[in-house]
Amino acid sequence: MKLLITGGAGFIGSNFIHYWLKKYPDDNIINLDVLTYAGNLENLADVADSKNYQFVKGNICDEKLVDGLAKNIDLIAHFAAETHVDRSVMDSGDFIKTNVEGTRVLLDAAKKNNVRFHHISTDEVFGSLGPNEPSFNEKTPYDPRSPYSALKAAADHLVRSYYHTHKLPITISNCTNNYGPYQFPEKLLPLFITNLLEGKKVPIYGNGQNIRDWIHVDDHNAGVDMIIKKGRIGETYCLGGNNELTNIELTKKILELMGKGEEMIKYVKDRPGHDLRYAMDISKAKRELGWEPKIKFEDGLAKTIEWYKNNKDWWKKIKSGEYNEYYKKQYEKLS
Ligand code: NAD
Ligand code: TYD
Repeated sequence: MKLLITGGAGFIGSNFIHYWLKKYPDDNIINLDVLTYAGNLENLADVADSKNYQFVKGNICDEKLVDGLAKNIDLIAHFAAETHVDRSVMDSGDFIKTNVEGTRVLLDAAKKNNVRFHHISTDEVFGSLGPNEPSFNEKTPYDPRSPYSALKAAADHLVRSYYHTHKLPITISNCTNNYGPYQFPEKLLPLFITNLLEGKKVPIYGNGQNIRDWIHVDDHNAGVDMIIKKGRIGETYCLGGNNELTNIELTKKILELMGKGEEMIKYVKDRPGHDLRYAMDISKAKRELGWEPKIKFEDGLAKTIEWYKNNKDWWKKIKSGEYNEYYKKQYEKLS
């Protein structure tokens, strides 16, 4: 099989490429990534010279490029996106371009070249749950509340519309918060782990009672694999870790595993429009695909902390380099 992966130099995409080449060594992968601040070819250093892997630096909004790459491809797995909620609050311009227009360009190329399309999306399109409300599922109405989730929702609708209107063979996965190696240290887990490794405090937004469901990136990618192989065309599958934690509970687990005390917590100003709770009912993926997350959170978290400890060069370069200003601002909040 020949796959076009978009956003393969980012966190989930690079883990997906590792996962896929290990499991299907005879398949061919083209990785199309424009290398925004979140894209990093070091994530793929060990596969860079594989004969069945090719990197193309380019923008998914570039119609000519995308159309050319979509020829002789069996599947597009679309990971590329602007992904950080906080950045979307500051400026949503790139989110519209990449998450919506970029998805449109890929869909048109898939349509023209008759290519199967799998779209990677998020639980955030469903909005925010109250503490006792039932988890999201495939039938939950969309109710996105941040610019990031609104534009992911727009992309999901567009993907589904190409199935209904053009009979494009699509599937969609909506997954909860991922963690694991190669995650850009702006998201909670890598930011907190690396701050603690630097002896710095960790900034908890608001009162820390917001709830997220956490899943290891390999479990997410195994779910995407099963949807690609066994998913019903036109369908959406909700993926999650069955692992809801308040941010404060999660932070305490990280502190404990890293041998640090609660004095390292600093409560800071809340994120505007901060969604209270995400949780996912994964019974459709279980029933139809036989998929469920396998990695126990305690094991996955300990291994992830080890990875950041053992790969200091990877994140130190990010935190001290081009994005120094971003982190300086973050640290100001902590002092
Ligand atoms: P990331 O920010 O780590 O990586 C995004 C990648 O996309 C980067 O390599 C970047 O260079 C690339 N990219 C951005 N704009 C591009 C463009 N215009 N053209 C080509 N490449 C471009 O993101 P991630 O956390 O790996 O998320 C991947 C996908 O998974 C996204 O679609 C996201 O919405 C979805 N998702 C993420 C999570 C999570 O917890 N991180 C959970 C559910 C779904
Ligand atoms: P994040 O990793 O940005 O993912 P998302 O917003 O997509 O769920 O944030 C996870 C949770 O952690 C969210 O409730 C916001 C909170 N958070 C903090 O408390 N402090 C931080 O510095 C960051 C980045 C997030």
